[in-house]
Amino acid sequence: MKITAVTGDITKLAADAVIVNLFEGVKRPSGATAAVDKALGGAIAKLIKQGEIKGKRGEITLIHTMDKIKPARVLVAGLGSKEQLTPAVIREAIAEACRYLRKMPVKEVVTIAHGTGAGGIDATVSAQAITEGAMLGSYTFRWHKTKSDNNGEIERLSIATPERQLLKPLKKGCEKGRVLAEATILARDVANEPGNFMTPTDLAAVAAKVADDWGLECEVFERADMEEMDMGALLGVARGSVQPPKLIVLKYRGDKRSKKIIGLVGKGLTFDSGGISIKPSEKMGDMKGDMAGGAAVIAAMRAIGELKPKANVTAIVPATENLPDGNAYKPGDVLKASNGKTIEVVNTDAEGRLILADALSYARKLGLSPVIDIATLTGACMVALGDLCSGGFGNDQGVIDKVIAAGADAGERIWQLPMCDEYKEANKSDIADVKNSGGRYGGAITAAQFLHEFIEDTPWAHIDIAGTSRSEKDKGYVVKGETGVMVRTLVNFVLGM
Ligand code: BES
Ligand code: MN
Ligand code: ZN
Repeated sequence: MKITAVTGDITKLAADAVIVNLFEGVKRPSGATAAVDKALGGAIAKLIKQGEIKGKRGEITLIHTMDKIKPARVLVAGLGSKEQLTPAVIREAIAEACRYLRKMPVKEVVTIAHGTGAGGIDATVSAQAITEGAMLGSYTFRWHKTKSDNNGEIERLSIATPERQLLKPLKKGCEKGRVLAEATILARDVANEPGNFMTPTDLAAVAAKVADDWGLECEVFERADMEEMDMGALLGVARGSVQPPKLIVLKYRGDKRSKKIIGLVGKGLTFDSGGISIKPSEKMGDMKGDMAGGAAVIAAMRAIGELKPKANVTAIVPATENLPDGNAYKPGDVLKASNGKTIEVVNTDAEGRLILADALSYARKLGLSPVIDIATLTGACMVALGDLCSGGFGNDQGVIDKVIAAGADAGERIWQLPMCDEYKEANKSDIADVKNSGGRYGGAITAAQFLHEFIEDTPWAHIDIAGTSRSEKDKGYVVKGETGVMVRTLVNFVLGM
């Protein structure tokens, strides 16, 4: 879908549909909605009066214009109360409207810069939200469908404004929205891709292509390199798989004068069966998405390479499968991570923290600071927060606050959980320095405390996306399947540094 900003009167532009809006409780439409209403002989006002259009958030009303205006259809999107309007509401409304219209089918759509009038939202912010909503809400993963889609696709969305001076800020918002949406779509594609197509080798190839396309440096460490670096935890997890593990490193250098390098680390489990501590078969297939953190980090690097902020960023993605096999690591085994700490394996399904142990130790070795890691780490986090908020943890409140704020800006909610020292008790092992599971209670926190052992005092935030990386249904700009969550948060975070 091509999204642009244009000047013109929406009632006179050629399109198959025009999207206008209405706030809840408004009796008489204003602004662009009023112009359309007038051209339609008061059809919208009449529907409001009859109670069919209420302006509730998520409400969609379609009116056929029967040649009264140039576009054949008007879609009135409810935005809820004016006081509660946020970019997230606009993103959601446009996403729902696009999914509704595309199956008509509709090819050309015109819309207004929602919220910039009475809603008080900045034109650039509005255009970015519209672009993200349209592109992400219309996303489908079709790589393995051999027949064409009967859903249809909107080819062009134009944001129309009568005010010439708004064109520049609107275009700027469209551009930023496009970069962030395309990166998020990359993360969704990569995470949705089945395990037999997205092995650690394939994931490394994706990173190499991103580096090639956007001028980043890419380095991929092989099993022999990991052995040399004593990455016993990552190697331990990889032992049950015939797929060679990869440690993927991407570097962006946008501030040559500064020595400061931000670290982004993402869990890259291309398939997590649980290993010898095998998972139940129901929904095990979803674990093809256990590299969503790694995908988010690689995708964020793509957007960073395109937006070129004045900052330095290094991304690290440890990638492997976790499978049971005659050679697989076993409960009871002891592994030694590259920082020298020994780990008793009490559950081979707690593998994410093991591969992250070596990745975080490596981030420390490189002197990266701050370090943000993104991981589908624990079912416990999903139990605690559901699919609405990712779990936030860390050892530096300033860094955590910045990540939460970057998330809020992207409409990706992060809820912080406590990291009291006492939680470390649960990870104590009788025979090694730590064990890889602290049990069921507080499982998301004890997992974060395990990671803390390896990032030590480097300023760090950990985001557990086990509950937010997948959606069971289409809702707003999220569609069923992998969500690409944290791509936009990470980019915001880097842009804000
Ligand atoms: N990848 C899973 C966590 C997960 C669960 C992500 C559901 C997305 C949806 C992780 O490797 C795992 O298996 N964690 C275990 C840890 C336990 C054995 C301590 C879990 O949460 O059950
Ligand atoms: Mn697991
Ligand atoms: Zn896992």
